[in-house]
Amino acid sequence: MHSTLRRAIPWLAGAVICKTVVTVFWTFRDYFPPNFDSYFLSGRDAYFFGSYRWAFYAHIISGPLTLLLGLVLVNNSFRRRSSGWHRRLGKVQVALVLLLVVPGGLWMALKADGGPVAVAGFTSLAVATFATCFFGWRAAMARRFPSHERWMQRCYVLLCSAVVLRLIGGLATILEFDNSWSYPFAAWFSWLGPLLALEWWRRSFGTTRPASTDRYKRQ
Ligand code: HEM
Repeated sequence: MHSTLRRAIPWLAGAVICKTVVTVFWTFRDYFPPNFDSYFLSGRDAYFFGSYRWAFYAHIISGPLTLLLGLVLVNNSFRRRSSGWHRRLGKVQVALVLLLVVPGGLWMALKADGGPVAVAGFTSLAVATFATCFFGWRAAMARRFPSHERWMQRCYVLLCSAVVLRLIGGLATILEFDNSWSYPFAAWFSWLGPLLALEWWRRSFGTTRPASTDRYKRQ
């Protein structure tokens, strides 16, 4: 792949992620207070006021924050310049993902639109996100930094499923695809697609650094 294009892709991805975060914050007008005529909440008034509400608010507030924090944390030059901040923000990220984003998403997955295929897709995403974050955190604690980096990249790509899901949704609307199959498809493809792309990218362009050079010093 052309090296300019290869350098441009992370910047482009960062811009799309930031744009998604702004769009999600903008949609909060429909959620505070809940507007049951809005796109996502319509038809959910029957169960919204139970535990679903807590899962929903925990999820939608923590989700965008993890997308922004992740952008900083996966940045290698930031990690090299500010390893102390990398560690502090990393702890916040792990807590947000394991305690809020994933449990909230898992609870909401049980009521997901799109039937059992979508329910299974979102549930699997929740399990995979929890596992990658947990393994990444454990590797950092054990100072196995190359492994930590790999797991956390996977975790971030899984968090970015929220971005890909919205891109697929936009494309499906433009192309007038039937939501009854495009949404269940998106519930799987939004995370499996980017995860496979990451593994391919790592194998094709990844640097193989010796473990010793990957360690950052404790401050
Ligand atoms: C990676 C773990 C995640 C899982 C398992 C997950 C799961 C879900 C599920 C199941 C729903 C409801 C879908 C439906 O009922 O049709 C949902 C909605 C939502 N998710 Fe996530 N999600 C994850 C990550 C994120 C992230 C990183 C964000 C950050 C933007 C996010 C933001 C939202 C928002 C704002 C909604 C409400 C619907 C909307 O306004 O579009 N999620 N999520």
